[in-house]
Parts: sequence; structure tokens; C-alpha cells
Amino acid sequence: MDRKKIVITRKIPEAGVEKLKEIFDVAVSPFDRDVTQDEIVKMTTGAQGLVSMVTNNLNKDIIDHLTTIKIIANYAVGFNNIDIEYAREKDIVVTNTPDVLTEATADIAMALILCVARRIVEGDRLVRKGEFKGFYPTFFLGVELQNKVLGIYGMGRIGKAVAKRAVTCGLKIIYHDPIHIAKGSFDFPAHYVSFDELLKESDFISIHAPLVTETHHKFTKKEFRKMKKEAFLINAARGPLVKEEDLVCALKQGLIAGAGLDVYEFEPEVHPDLIKLDNVVLLPHIGSAAIEVRERMATIAADNIIAFFKGAPPPNRVN
Ligand code: DGY
Repeated sequence: MDRKKIVITRKIPEAGVEKLKEIFDVAVSPFDRDVTQDEIVKMTTGAQGLVSMVTNNLNKDIIDHLTTIKIIANYAVGFNNIDIEYAREKDIVVTNTPDVLTEATADIAMALILCVARRIVEGDRLVRKGEFKGFYPTFFLGVELQNKVLGIYGMGRIGKAVAKRAVTCGLKIIYHDPIHIAKGSFDFPAHYVSFDELLKESDFISIHAPLVTETHHKFTKKEFRKMKKEAFLINAARGPLVKEEDLVCALKQGLIAGAGLDVYEFEPEVHPDLIKLDNVVLLPHIGSAAIEVRERMATIAADNIIAFFKGAPPPNRVN
């Protein structure tokens, strides 16, 4: 019997590639960069499975060209880069890689909270510039976390993992969830609030909701105006939940105190004014970038493809 062909659009950890190679013919993109739409179409000619990256825009147009593909295993928990409904219409199964990156992503959100509150990155820059002239009582003050309010927007797996970490730092948790109406019960104290209350009461807002139509540009100037002037915005979810231009204005006008970002509206572009601001910490989309995590994501993507071609339900189907 002919071996099926699986295409991987960018180098992923070997563990996943090796697993696939035991059963399939595997073609990993030869390019050390994001592939173009045309390249995806060329690479997938005659292939049955595709491992895609969050940076691959698998919209209707391109799905129309994936005529032999039966399964797309997205190498990410988020899948906003794929038109999953259209894929289903075309009988293409889509899967993701949940759970394994929950703790690592929560670590990054918590790190951003600590960095903006205590001016950690700014302090590092100051020392490197040779500007540290010694301790004095009013020097380089930040804010402590104890008894401050963390508002979590999106209390899914990652939101909860952030809340658990935050509670141990003395933060009080309030949350709003755009997707799950049910107010969950947790093994940490957390209080459900309306979106407006979240904006008004939080000292830190950390975004952990997926990017869907309802959450696109959820944070604009209107929302920043409602936030406390001392509040910080943290985003380790998806850039387009925040209207970046409005965030820049809010930061410049002092509507909020600062921001910690791991994702951007027009990634990999970062608004040039964000780069100039000292009260902003900027990371290069590294929420899941831990060796162990990226390896597990690779094997999960492989497991989904293997299950599918064995005729079993892929464990992480999203459409
Ligand atoms: C995800 O998994 O959605 C991250 O953003 C990329 O790993």
C-alpha cells in the first residue's frame, strides 16, 4: 500500500517528525522561514496530511487548493489562522495541541506581570547603560503585587493557570469570560465580574481568550479609558484582541500605566511607538517556547495525524 504523504510547513522538534516517519512519507519545508501561500500549495500537492504553524494563513482560498489534504494538524493551541468551518465543509479535519503549553504560557504571562510591576526589564537596561548610581529610597519604584487585583479575561486552561500563580503572589482574582457563560468553580478564590467591572476594578488585566470574531479588538481606546490609570495590560494570547494603535495612544496619554506583550496585532511587526516606550515589556511570542513543550506539541500533532489515518478520532479535533 502507498505510504501517505505528510507535509510540515516549518522545522519542528524531531520527536514528532520521527513518529510520523515510521508510518508516512514526511516532507519538512526546506526553508528556514515562513512559507508563502504559493509554497504551501506546491508542497502539499499529492499530500494527505499537513502540519501547519500559527503563522500559516489557511483561509478559504488556500483551503480550496488543498484538494488532497484530509487533516491539518496545527502546531499550536490557537487555530485562528485556519478557517476551520470551511475546512470542515471541505471534509478536512483540523486539530490543535492543547494542554501541554498551558503552564509554560502561564509562566510567561506571570513573568510579564512581574516585569511591568517591578520594572524589571527597564532596570536591566539601566544597569547595562551604566546608569546605576546606587540605592536610595525613592529610586526606581514600581508597585507590589500584594492585594492588587488581577482581572483575567478568558478563564480557560491558561487563564486558570495564571490565576493560580497570581494568588501565590498575593493578587486577588476577578475574571470575565467571553466564551464560557458558566461561572466556574476553582481551587483558588476568584470572583466573576462583568466586562465593565473587569476594566474598572483591575490593577492588571491579563488576556487569555481565543481570537474569534467576538474578541477581535476587544480592547480599544474606549476600554482603556475605563481602566485605572495605574493599571497594566498583559497579552500573551493573540495580538488582534487589542487594537494596537489605541494601546499606543493610551500608553502615551497615561490612560493606563503600562503593558506587557508577547503577541502583536500585525505580528511579527511591532508598532514602532511601542518600542520607544519604557513602560512596556515586549516579548517575541514565546508563550509556548520551552524545549519540553515544543517537543510535546510536535508529538501531539503527530499523534493526531496517526490516529486519523488509523481510522480513530484524532484526540484534539477542533472542527
Ligand atoms: C499557540 O499555541 O497558540 C501559541 O501561540 C503558539 O505556540
